[in-house]
Amino acid sequence: MAEPQEPGSSSLLAAARRAHEEAFGGAAVLAAWAPGRVNLIGEHTDYNDGFVLPMALQLGTVLVGSPTQDNTISIVTSSAEADEPHKVQFPAPRPNSPLSPGLPRWANYVKGVIQHYRGGPVPGFTAVVASNVPLGGGLSSSASLEVATYTFLQQLCPDDGDLVAKALACQKAEHTFAGMPCGIMDQFISVMGQEGHALLIDCRSLETVLVPLSDASLAVLITNSNVRHTLTGSEYPTRRRQCEEAAAALGKASLRDATLPELEEARSSLGDEVFRRARHVIGEIARTSQAAQALQNKDYKTFGKLMVESHNSLRDDFEVSCPELDELVAAALEVKGVYGSRMTGGGFGGCTVTLLEAEAAAKAQKHIQEKYSGTATFYLTKPSAGAKALPL
Ligand code: GLA
Repeated sequence: MAEPQEPGSSSLLAAARRAHEEAFGGAAVLAAWAPGRVNLIGEHTDYNDGFVLPMALQLGTVLVGSPTQDNTISIVTSSAEADEPHKVQFPAPRPNSPLSPGLPRWANYVKGVIQHYRGGPVPGFTAVVASNVPLGGGLSSSASLEVATYTFLQQLCPDDGDLVAKALACQKAEHTFAGMPCGIMDQFISVMGQEGHALLIDCRSLETVLVPLSDASLAVLITNSNVRHTLTGSEYPTRRRQCEEAAAALGKASLRDATLPELEEARSSLGDEVFRRARHVIGEIARTSQAAQALQNKDYKTFGKLMVESHNSLRDDFEVSCPELDELVAAALEVKGVYGSRMTGGGFGGCTVTLLEAEAAAKAQKHIQEKYSGTATFYLTKPSAGAKALPL
């Protein structure tokens, strides 16, 4: 059954404060929280200047800490990979001695954000990271760590408070320190999420529209396949390159500007794989605007149908699904009261997202678990607010 979702961050915060006392022998005086996200529709569209429709989760990352008098930054995490040390220490960056990525891998997200922070200079500090976003589960554990770090730094040495610039700095940290050429969706929703709403983001203009999602008769069920993905592998950058190749061949700045008839016309010159990648993106951008409109109208049937089309396109044309995700989607769609289901996030494992009648949620979890060849984990979650400082 779904794991109970505490509202916000209270038990994580308590655990992180205790860990800070233990690790550093003193109380943390500052704390920040940033959520993970689930994307309802609009997959692999963000780096094509398209639309996405994510919501922030009640799962997230807390960072607590205190400034120190020396120039040293010391960080302890409760969620490192099993083979990695839980603690790192390094000198605060200065113009002639910038930070660079290395091991342990989890620390690169923190270091990248410190390096690209827009306030500063960042002084020495101690900090503890605690997260309940499953690692590599497609729910943006990385973005929530980056944005929590940035939000912590805003209290330590304030910047100008520009939220768009904050999301962009966190994305840059991921590009340069984690080697993952991600789009803007994850960092953006972790910063901008609003309780009771999904957020339609135009990834070209970075303009947003809040779409209400608080109907008590409706539920969003996340199902973790517990198959791990690593997006820094070659698949994600390859997809990105193929999309750029297609846009260039069509004479467009990005696939946002391309239409399906134009793509069809160029089919023979593109090669089958690049053609199908572009067909997914162009179709998905259109589906995402239609889905946002359907959600505005509380037309959940249409929304669900678009989710299924999205999944099929990600499976067949973009080829980022996997048998486990396909199984979970098929099982969900067999349950009465389910409007739609699809893989969510980068793909190759991770989670599915299912829109369903609230009263079908228990039955759906039971059925999916029975049908799934692996072991699934469920999260029933509500759209939550973006990053914030936590009072101590
Ligand atoms: C990952 C990236 C996002 C986005 C999704 C796919 O989560 O971080 O920017 O591209 O994959 O939609």
